[in-house]
Amino acid sequence: MSVDRPRPLVAGNWKMNGLKASAEVLDQIKAGYDDALKGRVDLAICPPATLVAAFAEKTAGSGIGIGGQDCHAKESGAYTGNIAAKMLKDGGAAYVIVGHSERRQYERETDADVRAKAEAAHRTGLIAIVCVGETKDEREAGRTLDVVRGQLKGSVPEGSNGGNLVVAYEPVWAIGTGLTPTAADVAEVHKVIRENLAGIVGPAEQAKVRILYGGSVKPSNAAELMGVADVDGALVGGASLVASDFLGIASAYRA
Ligand code: 13P
Repeated sequence: MSVDRPRPLVAGNWKMNGLKASAEVLDQIKAGYDDALKGRVDLAICPPATLVAAFAEKTAGSGIGIGGQDCHAKESGAYTGNIAAKMLKDGGAAYVIVGHSERRQYERETDADVRAKAEAAHRTGLIAIVCVGETKDEREAGRTLDVVRGQLKGSVPEGSNGGNLVVAYEPVWAIGTGLTPTAADVAEVHKVIRENLAGIVGPAEQAKVRILYGGSVKPSNAAELMGVADVDGALVGGASLVASDFLGIASAYRA
């Protein structure tokens, strides 16, 4: 990794997993991080919203950031069941994932929705982790780059910069399947994301935006993925629920 690259970020998306007792996993991650990784890679854990405040309290000052998995575009109001960016921030979160493919698919979120959520995150001072990625059909139809370009253009708000934006490339077909794109495929998409970011956040800021790869990242494939140009870290699902796996991945990504 060259000196002008941003420090890698390995983020765990716990999805709809985790109870109070899962604080034990966080303790193990924190201990491993303190031992060998602190200062060399940034970590983030995005637990379910019920655990954000307790996790943030536990990790305060540790270098591990806590994040939400979604937020509403509005600051407050009659939106039963939703959570505002400000509430996550109030609970101690530093990050929020927006536009995860599971939300695009199951909650029918559009690029415009994702952009509004990222704007809400930015207004509140949260770092938005904006997810993009093609489906299997789109890849097979040769549309991957067009899809990713379109999602970026539609989902990344004005005012984004290296400090408040992280982009996660997560091919939908690689999530939870054990399948991963080849290193060459990841390199191709990340290069296009970087080039397109220049047009969105400006030429100076694009180099500072961390572009994560996500989709079946494990300790066994992390080193190869991290070796790919323009891969600045990982967004990890299943493997982030097991401290040793998450730490194994983070070790591969440390600068
Ligand atoms: P897996 O690592 O379980 O494939 O999930 C990836 C993901 O969706 C992270 O946001």
